[in-house]
Amino acid sequence: MEKNKSILLSAIQPTGCLTIGNYLGALSQWNKVQKEYNSIYCIADLHSVTVQHNNKDLRKNIFDTLALYLACGVDPKKSIIFVQSHVYEHTQLNWILNCYSYFGELTRMTQFKSKLIDGRKNINIGLLNYPVLMASDILLYQTNHVLVGIDQKQHVELVINIANRFNNFYKSKIFTIPAILLSQQGSKIMSLLEPTKKMSKSNINKKNTIFLLEEINSIRKKIKMAVTDSEEPARIYYNFEKKPGISNLLTIFSCFTGKTIAELENEFSKNSYLEFKEALSDALSTVICRLQRSYFEYREDESYLTRIIVNGASQAREYAKKTLETVYYVLGLR
Ligand code: TYM
Repeated sequence: MEKNKSILLSAIQPTGCLTIGNYLGALSQWNKVQKEYNSIYCIADLHSVTVQHNNKDLRKNIFDTLALYLACGVDPKKSIIFVQSHVYEHTQLNWILNCYSYFGELTRMTQFKSKLIDGRKNINIGLLNYPVLMASDILLYQTNHVLVGIDQKQHVELVINIANRFNNFYKSKIFTIPAILLSQQGSKIMSLLEPTKKMSKSNINKKNTIFLLEEINSIRKKIKMAVTDSEEPARIYYNFEKKPGISNLLTIFSCFTGKTIAELENEFSKNSYLEFKEALSDALSTVICRLQRSYFEYREDESYLTRIIVNGASQAREYAKKTLETVYYVLGLR
């Protein structure tokens, strides 16, 4: 790591296939920021264990996720890329931070509450504990900036509280207090059929979600079916309250092309929703095809992928170990 650069950390859960929400809210930024920051990119496989899964799928998803990181331009020579479960310090610090986190604050997390509301049976403690594991991921590396989408903002705010609480308790700056970095646009991509809800990997109705490794024809069909509105005559402009569907599609269009929303409103001022959707499909296909081509090249070579994560884990451990030793020391465990 370079001394004059601050540390940035970001992570994705390898649960299922990654979506354009993951891409626009996080992954698409990683390549750009790795020049400016000492970047650490984690594959948060232990977070995936909070949902019931098949072990073969998880093993495959870890490699898929890594190949996608590389296809998006994350460079193992510039950034540390590792798998969370390979660096044992994460679970060790997690236990300690549990003892500095309150049951009340964890049950107030929106994501946890939404799982309760969904009526899931047998909510496991891992789901409640999930943000504390995120706290270990972040605080072990003395992270200055955490890059996430809006849905993870509340969790990182909790991490900041836990870190401040710990530092204040021991009257010492054990942990760096991180700042939240959101992508300027695209930090909250909504579902295609229910544009007031976040696009998510786990949505039961797959027509709501565009996956990065999905066939282009299937993506086109989903965009065609995306919910719009019944304004007469049909007009394309951004107004999330009145037109959540069109506003979401405009955001996606803008993120994938680099054109501003105003430019797009102007360009499509005389077009129908269908024409607009076709143009959006074309723009998305160009980027996603390129990404998929690169992904398949990396994905073929599992021994190269393995070398990256073995090396990444040993680099990550160097930093994680130091922080954990300091924590053990202040707690009187050393
Ligand atoms: P995960 O895997 O759900 O999502 C990974 C990243 O994608 C962002 N994201 C979105 N952004 C915009 N629109 C959407 N619809 C959308 N859906 C997801 C998320 O905000 C996130 O940035 N617990 C985390 C992973 C994690 C982590 C960490 C993140 C583990 N440890 C430490 C940061 C720091 C998670 O499940 O993200």
